[in-house]
Amino acid sequence: MMLKAKKIVIAIDGFSSCGKSTLAKQLAKELNYTFVDSGAMYRAITLYFLREHINWNHTKEVNMALQEIALDFEMNDQTGNSDILLNDENIESFIRDMLVSEKVSDVAAIKEVREFAVVQQQKMGKKKGIVMDGRDIGTTVFPDAELKIFVTADPDVRVERRFKELYEKNHNISIEDVKENLEMRDYMDSNREVSPLRKADDAIVLDNTNLTREEQLKLALKWVKERSA
Ligand code: DC
Repeated sequence: MMLKAKKIVIAIDGFSSCGKSTLAKQLAKELNYTFVDSGAMYRAITLYFLREHINWNHTKEVNMALQEIALDFEMNDQTGNSDILLNDENIESFIRDMLVSEKVSDVAAIKEVREFAVVQQQKMGKKKGIVMDGRDIGTTVFPDAELKIFVTADPDVRVERRFKELYEKNHNISIEDVKENLEMRDYMDSNREVSPLRKADDAIVLDNTNLTREEQLKLALKWVKERSA
């Protein structure tokens, strides 16, 4: 008799534009799991702070602003993606702008912001059957995740991938802007005080520089199978 595979928690971390979300989405689709893009939550909070002119160097102002923020995810049947909602507004098309990308690492370094996001992320994982991608998922959000993957890729390949993605929407963007932003975010994300980006000791490293999407999915599915037997 075939035993039904148990549902697990999959944590995917790594530097900016390594293809974490692509892999997380592939896995969620294949396994019929929930996919959560934790970076979208930090981007949504940043968008709110920018729109409302919140001075995020003032803890009191940050705390008051966070009380006004409700984040949700909603399945978009047209794209098959899970879109983020900020106070019921679908803000998916604004959060990848350079304006948000330039400030998100500052906002994501704030202790109160991280606590706000992490509590919600942990709630989403309670029922298992979840794939979450970010920077601190295997270290802070789900330290007990059954499978942790740390994705890496050659820096030039990452810049090229992100440039292509952004250029489709905005032809004014330059490859230098993208490179500068990725380097800045990697530095800030790795060097902040609270939950800096680092590989969990028990994470598997996946370098996808020379892998096709299909190859990386196959590898990850093998690891899932080993851990959910
Ligand atoms: O995954 P992304 O590039 O959309 O994430 C945007 C920023 O949010 C990233 O530069 C750092 C921050 N982030 C974080 O600090 N912790 C996470 N779990 C996810 C993202």
